[in-house]
Amino acid sequence: MPVIAEAQPNIALIKYWGKRDEARNLPAVDSLSLTLASLRTRMSVTFDEHAEKDLLTINNEIAPGMLARVSDCLDSVCGCRRPRASVVSESNFPIGAGLASSASAFAALVVAASHGIGQTLTTLALARLAGSASGSAARSLFGGIVALRCGPEEINLDPLAEAADWPLEVIVAVTEEGQKPVGSGAAMQRSAYTSPFYSAWLSRQPADFRLAVDAVAARDFAALAAVSEHNCLKMHSVMWTSRPAIVYWNAATLACMETVRALQRDRQPVFFTIDAGPQLKAVCLPDAASVVRDALDQTEGVLRTLQSGLGAGARILRP
Ligand code: DP6
Repeated sequence: MPVIAEAQPNIALIKYWGKRDEARNLPAVDSLSLTLASLRTRMSVTFDEHAEKDLLTINNEIAPGMLARVSDCLDSVCGCRRPRASVVSESNFPIGAGLASSASAFAALVVAASHGIGQTLTTLALARLAGSASGSAARSLFGGIVALRCGPEEINLDPLAEAADWPLEVIVAVTEEGQKPVGSGAAMQRSAYTSPFYSAWLSRQPADFRLAVDAVAARDFAALAAVSEHNCLKMHSVMWTSRPAIVYWNAATLACMETVRALQRDRQPVFFTIDAGPQLKAVCLPDAASVVRDALDQTEGVLRTLQSGLGAGARILRP
């Protein structure tokens, strides 16, 4: 009998880029994110005492490339002597394209696997397990606006606001549907070893994180906008100055930034953020959502837009 869990991706406003401990996948910096509502990954896990190998299907295709990471995650949740599992993952948005599909996937996977093996773990324990598979996945265990703090030995998660406490809308401008050229894990390792700006990135992150936490507490959209855009551009500066350079943007990504700047000149409450991919995410207050979406839809090079409010954390759909 499959156990099915669902999780939503989250979009970081204060970014995680770099690891303090690669073996345990501990982030080097604190981060802050928005969990989305309408993008989702549904994960079904079926344990089979008689099966000899794990099997992974992503969006109806056998996915051997991701299997080792999924098997490691199952081991960390259920122990190495666990039964083998058939894992079926379905996402309603492009995967591996800078839309945090690994966050929703690993968040849903730990919830389904833990439930399937009969454990009752706290959400924090599940978040730590998800984080050891993919750093950003830890945040998708919680809904709304989420802070991830790095302790010396483990991460801590703090939901700062429920989805309904501060309704924000996110418009994703999809500018390329394909998979990104360099995965974020390998890319952040390259940045740590080669970017001359990496140590500056690390040293300034606590100040950005504090500003963002305070902006959320005060529901100060302008302050959150300012620190989020600055943090995003700093992360991409670290990527660009890595060797070889990591440039996830394309011409349409820049055109979308121009569109957001024009909206800001028209006093629309909107700001942008961009992750390890060419898609731009515009965060806005709900009243501005239709104007922002129309403007991004009309921006040269945008293939389509997706829209989402803030949603809930990962959960079981069918036990
Ligand atoms: C740019 O969580 O995908 O989206 O821990 O290696 O799986 P791994 O990295 P991942 O990195 C996310 C990077 C980011 C910023 C963020 O989400 O905070």
